[in-house]
Amino acid sequence: MAKIKAAILGFGTVGQGIYHIVNDKKEDLKKSLGLDIEISAILINNLAKERPATPGVLVTDDFEDIINIPGLQVVFEAIVNEDPAYGYLCRAIDKGCHVITANKVMFSKYSIPLHERAKSRGVFVGYEATTAGGVPVIKTLKNLLQVNSVKKIQGILNGTSNYILTQMRLEECPFDSALKEAQMLGYAEADPYNDVSGQDAFRKLMILSALAFGKQPNWNDVRVEGITEISLEDVKKAKLEGLRYRHVAEIVQDENGELFASVGPQLVGPDHPLYAIEGVNNAVSLDTNYIGTLTLVGPGAGMYPTASVMVEDYAEIIGKRAGFMITI
Ligand code: NDP
Ligand code: HSE
Repeated sequence: MAKIKAAILGFGTVGQGIYHIVNDKKEDLKKSLGLDIEISAILINNLAKERPATPGVLVTDDFEDIINIPGLQVVFEAIVNEDPAYGYLCRAIDKGCHVITANKVMFSKYSIPLHERAKSRGVFVGYEATTAGGVPVIKTLKNLLQVNSVKKIQGILNGTSNYILTQMRLEECPFDSALKEAQMLGYAEADPYNDVSGQDAFRKLMILSALAFGKQPNWNDVRVEGITEISLEDVKKAKLEGLRYRHVAEIVQDENGELFASVGPQLVGPDHPLYAIEGVNNAVSLDTNYIGTLTLVGPGAGMYPTASVMVEDYAEIIGKRAGFMITI
């Protein structure tokens, strides 16, 4: 059976999840796709760190070792920030590889050039994991946009913030302790500034905007606030009043096609659709012309939810290339 050679860039929470799932699902993927995926190499930053066993796999801190693998076909990218991630993905695409990324900081800025580059090389870019973790909002949007148009998107797009707000309310846990828990659970970024400042939710909202509306608003026009100003006292007071803090990202298109977006905390009551979304869960409500409002809810961060949608992207891309639909 023909082999598909793949590499993973980054071997933290998400990269390790990809490695485990690919190995766990190897036989099923062989059956459904008729191709045998093999993780040939893993890129990391710090060679001195101890790594979980990866027998037979090249573990390197030099991207040249990866890009020069003969016959490399798929690159999973789970490193952080724009640089060097964007450059690495450009080189992988130029080599004829499909690329699958979880990196929303990079993708929110470079989705258009990456897609154009991939199109010119006849390869695909998978990016389900960039937005709302395990919630399949990208593939849902791609499908419904074939017939529907979207008028508004509203949601909780950062698992760490929602986890912190939930722990503050349910456990009366101080902000810093709840953030530490979110880091230990693999929800928060290594530097959690983007999580708690609202920047992470903003980048995800911009990815959804590019897909749903074919454009993004001017980033400077978007009000972005995080959850750092919300104290335990604020949360307790809201609880007594039957209200909950939610970190809400929303974008609306008016009749003239102009986009209006905002990201920040809101106090919501029991009749609000985001009131019941707890812990690491994310929710995305899509207001469409034909379906009406569709809401997706599920884990917005964490090793396996995120890695599994990346392996699903792989199965979809390779399934398309092989010219058949995947049967489950
Ligand atoms: P981690 O911090 O756990 O892991 C990052 C990995 O990338 C580490 O293995 C690190 O190497 C490696 N790395 C970082 N920079 C470089 C570089 N320049 N060259 C080579 N390797 C590098 O992050 P996560 O796994 O949590 O996240 C990875 C990506 O996925 C991020 O872009 C994140 O925003 C995104 N994401 C994360 C989710 C989550 O739930 N955690 C969910 C959805 C998306 P080393 O091990 O040597 O330090
Ligand atoms: N740190 C992010 C979050 C990971 O908490 O939502 C998922 O993108």
